[in-house]
Amino acid sequence: MRTDDLQSKHGRRHFLRFLTGGLTLALPGWALARNGLWMPDEELPITPTQIEGPFYPQPSIDQQLFNDTDLVQRAAGHEFAKGEQIIVNGVVKNRKGQPLPGSVVEIWQACATGRYHHPRDENNPALLDNNFQFWGRAITGEDGSYSFKSIIPGMYTGRTARHIHFRIDSPGLKRLTTQCYFSDFGEDNARDGLYRSLQPNERKLVTVELDSAEAAKLNTDAATQGQTIEQDRTPRSGKFDIVLG
Ligand SMILES: [Fe+2]
Repeated sequence: MRTDDLQSKHGRRHFLRFLTGGLTLALPGWALARNGLWMPDEELPITPTQIEGPFYPQPSIDQQLFNDTDLVQRAAGHEFAKGEQIIVNGVVKNRKGQPLPGSVVEIWQACATGRYHHPRDENNPALLDNNFQFWGRAITGEDGSYSFKSIIPGMYTGRTARHIHFRIDSPGLKRLTTQCYFSDFGEDNARDGLYRSLQPNERKLVTVELDSAEAAKLNTDAATQGQTIEQDRTPRSGKFDIVLG
């Protein structure tokens, strides 16, 4: 769209708003939206829904013995999981941008070799990393924030995009099930059926940008080749804010 097109469109919006100021009071929101008279562009876009997939943990995450926010180490004193460590954090908020404290954020994912800890993935020939905690659970604080320490998920047959599954329950709101992806793997993402099913603007909302992509590539290559990544380096982190409708 050209700049002058945009300007004229904005001009039209303002004019329509001025013209329909009275109507806005008299008509319900859906009627205005249907007629293009109400544009809720002040509100944040809702995080797109993605399918749950077949590997939601059994028993459910809240029933698991180890289910905290550190997936890299199941409990103090245990071995570390293989793979490049990362921090994924963000804020759960509503469409007005207000934080949603007390929301339950659950995640589950494949280990570095691309296998889920799930009965349905038992025929997967990839080695199960028993040091990995394949899921985690966080409750958002007063500021709506959550944070997980995990690893870059491995790839597995059927998907070409590395992804982490999310399920968010916030008091009084509809459950959101989705998945997040990583901008480091743009070409893989572009070939993934589920990622491609999203509109380009929706893809942005579920794509996490981890800091310093070059270090990531080196680490992921090393992890894929079975090398252990130094555990003492600060993990790269990326933000995944979640907006509930
Ligand atoms: Fe998956």
